[in-house]
Amino acid sequence: RCSIPDSSFLFTVCFSSARQLTVQMMQNPQILAALQERLDGLNGSPSGYMESLPKVVKRRVNALKNLQVKCAHIEAKFYEEVHELERKYAALYQPLFDKRSDIVKAAYEPTDEECEWKADEEEELTDEMKEKAKLEEEKKDEEKEDPKGIPEFWLTVFKNVDLLSDMLQEHDEPILKHLQDIKVKFSDPGQPMSFTLEFQFEPNDFFTNTVLTKTYKMRSEPDENDPFSFDGPEIMSCTGCTIEWTKGKNVTLKTIKKKQKHKGRGTVRTVTKTVPNDSFFNFFTPPEVPENGELDEDSEAILAADFEIGHFIRERIVPRAVLYFTGEAIEDDDDDVSVGI
Ligand SMILES: *[C@@H]1O[C@H](CO)[C@@H](O)[C@H](O)[C@H]1NC(C)=O
Ligand SMILES: *[C@@H]1O[C@H](CO)[C@@H](O)[C@H](O)[C@H]1NC(C)=O
Repeated sequence: RCSIPDSSFLFTVCFSSARQLTVQMMQNPQILAALQERLDGLNGSPSGYMESLPKVVKRRVNALKNLQVKCAHIEAKFYEEVHELERKYAALYQPLFDKRSDIVKAAYEPTDEECEWKADEEEELTDEMKEKAKLEEEKKDEEKEDPKGIPEFWLTVFKNVDLLSDMLQEHDEPILKHLQDIKVKFSDPGQPMSFTLEFQFEPNDFFTNTVLTKTYKMRSEPDENDPFSFDGPEIMSCTGCTIEWTKGKNVTLKTIKKKQKHKGRGTVRTVTKTVPNDSFFNFFTPPEVPENGELDEDSEAILAADFEIGHFIRERIVPRAVLYFTGEAIEDDDDDVSVGI
């Protein structure tokens, strides 16, 4: 089940195992048949076996199921501790992420020693080739004006990751050039489990906010009605923030001209209307999950994608941004079917 309000973790599982299945099936059609058989068995088509058991045995099986529910509750505690550990380690990573941010936005110039990096292929180059490459590099540098920090670092990350570039519109790009950092903040101990993504912007012409936030509320307890489906924390809902757009810069809106015919007189006049426009920045106004938990199909699809993106930014992008900037992390993700927690 890959639908709301399933866990984002589950999304990852569903997506990656689905991908793995397709790959295997294409390679070996026999697997398809075997899998189908197994799925039929799992899909609750009653085998009749349970029914055939004597009453006293069935009764004991119920006892086992009750034990299983208790296991699910212990598992929930396990994930709460994982969350605590993540919080603890987040504090250890933070100084490094802060330094990354300082280098990106030119608040800190790394030393020669910090910049030393020996790539594997470099070893195979002859001295002559190295010299040539160096001259070319120098020429390139001379042609450009002196760039500050790492220009368009986060925009490049966004463009390199399909999940994010799908949301990106052309008119979002000039804005995202001003994105300087993305931080993950975990909820405090004793508080309901959640995490917040903080998008930090340098002062810009588009909006007055310096930080845009997106908070994901999670739940780590088995659903009373379906305890066996518990598979770790679920994202339950998310909230964005109000973007204080400068006049005329709201890219989530567009004005359209519409011809309107007067019913009686038949005259035509043109009216202008503002309607929502596609934009990455709609990410900060997600659909609300109503109290009764019922969503229309559109909102459900938007949220399913949203939860996946939030999870991906937290789990992958923020911890390893440089590898998404260079592209090194992208191939890894393609055949990475491990899920982690
Ligand atoms: C709305 O979207 C279109 C196409 O994506 C874009 O060209 C246009 O600039 C957007 N409008 C505004 C006001 O940003
Ligand atoms: C920007 O557009 C959104 C609709 O996409 C609207 O809800 C919001 O009020 C607008 N903000 C400003 C400051 O115009």
